[in-house]
Amino acid sequence: MNEMRPASRETSWPAPDEFETIAHANKPFSLRVPALVVTRGLDGTLNVMLSMWFTPMGIEPSCFLVAVDPKTKTYELMMQTKEFVIAAPDESMFAAAIYAGAVTGHKENKWDACGFTPLEPKVGSVPLVREALANVELVVDRTMPFDARFLLVVGMVKACHVKSEFFRSGIYKDGANPLLWLGKASGEQQGNKTAVNYGAGMGRTWASDDTSPLLQRIKAAKK
Ligand SMILES: Cc1cc2nc3c(=O)[nH]c(=O)nc-3n(C[C@H](O)[C@H](O)[C@H](O)COP(=O)(O)O)c2cc1C
Repeated sequence: MNEMRPASRETSWPAPDEFETIAHANKPFSLRVPALVVTRGLDGTLNVMLSMWFTPMGIEPSCFLVAVDPKTKTYELMMQTKEFVIAAPDESMFAAAIYAGAVTGHKENKWDACGFTPLEPKVGSVPLVREALANVELVVDRTMPFDARFLLVVGMVKACHVKSEFFRSGIYKDGANPLLWLGKASGEQQGNKTAVNYGAGMGRTWASDDTSPLLQRIKAAKK
């Protein structure tokens, strides 16, 4: 990280004593559903990779921006068919998610090892994951170089499937248990096989309180 040199420092502000400095700035913002990226080669080979370096972008057209390491099996298969599916895991898929992020499909058949059940997609040829809470079908629109390790893949959403049991109008129902986070403690060396993997889930879903003054302001601003 570049050293920050603010033009002037406000010396009257109290020191942030209740905060600690950690190595990874993504940690506080990582509480979100990881993506299981499913790909299928032209010969029918299936693979699954854990991805956290992705973001949905825009509403119409709806797309996802995914950072992909070109050395991965995922990239190889993705470039063959120009298609992929991203599946939203629930808590029961914690081990599979960690495995899919630690082992490469160049060496193992991760799809078979995970025991996922393929379901027929609506648009493409890459299967949906029955065990997942939701599956999104995407086609590769373009790739952009990012840095020495990653490319940015822009995937256009072709169809989104959510499990009716766990969603109501696209909103998670109370009984849903999306995997909401997984990772190691900040500062663990990459490749440390003894580091503990942590997961986090969702405690509850709640509806916004429309009497909140801030939410009232949104209504007022829209008039
Ligand atoms: C928490 C976490 C998030 C990850 N996110 C990504 C990602 O967004 N893009 C990527 O290319 N690799 C990511 N990886 C690494 C891949 O999952 C890993 O290299 C995997 O073995 C690649 O599998 P493949 O070769 O079968 O495609 C991530 C790993 C972890 C542990």
